[in-house]
Amino acid sequence: MAEIIDGKRISSEIKEELKEEVAKLKAQGIEGCLAVIQVGNDAASSVYVRNKKKACEYIGIHSKSFELPENTTQEELLKLIGELNADSSVNGILVQLPLPGHIEEKTIINAISPKKDVDGFHPESVGSLTIGQKGFVSCTPAGIIELLKRSDVFIDGKNCVVVGRSNIVGKPMALLMLRENATVTITHSHTKNLKEICKSADILIVAVGKKEFITGEYIKEGAVVIDVGIHRDENNKLSGDVKYEEAAEKASKITPVPGGVGPMTIAMLMHNCVLAMKS
Ligand code: GUN
Repeated sequence: MAEIIDGKRISSEIKEELKEEVAKLKAQGIEGCLAVIQVGNDAASSVYVRNKKKACEYIGIHSKSFELPENTTQEELLKLIGELNADSSVNGILVQLPLPGHIEEKTIINAISPKKDVDGFHPESVGSLTIGQKGFVSCTPAGIIELLKRSDVFIDGKNCVVVGRSNIVGKPMALLMLRENATVTITHSHTKNLKEICKSADILIVAVGKKEFITGEYIKEGAVVIDVGIHRDENNKLSGDVKYEEAAEKASKITPVPGGVGPMTIAMLMHNCVLAMKS
């Protein structure tokens, strides 16, 4: 039976470390402030935003909340981002996604100063990651690297298969594993022989957004399995992109849902906020 990779414990550990670091920065007169913008009132987004603000409070940085109505125009949102870019008391800017359909996400992401891009979504941040320069890294993939390292998973030279190629998870995940010297394969909906490719993975990272898509048959005996998916059924029960019971029979280590990757995203957002304070 697989060992559980405890994202809740590891994310708490990281937040404790950051809290200490923030206290030291404060003693030097350096304050942190994250601006959090939400447009509309999507229920899931409201939960995420609330948790992000709570995490700021916990580690000791300020948060400024902007809850804008659904009918906010793109121009109004761009104006606010411009003001926050120019405000030296704000070190980080986060626009919660998804945005309403009449606002173009790409235009909004591009408007955030790369110096304050704590989500790591700006093309300059992504470009820096691609060529190995300093910059903010997207929080979920960065959190997965921390999960692996703090669970004593050795990455160097391993075969890593990433299932999914989103800009937020799949692509930056593959780049980060490459930076750690893994041999990386990215798979997606057009991939042929997906099962065989997944079965070659020493480390299998699944971010497809399809409930329990990866069964035991996709997993090599002794592989490490990371499940990024989160799905809620009609009884409010959560499950991932991986069929957990079957996968846990084969894997050596596995992340549960909930309590695996999920808590790491906010911990790494806080990590990026502290980086922003120091730059
Ligand atoms: N929506 C879902 N995940 C995220 C995230 O990591 N950042 C932002 N800004 N929006 C999201």
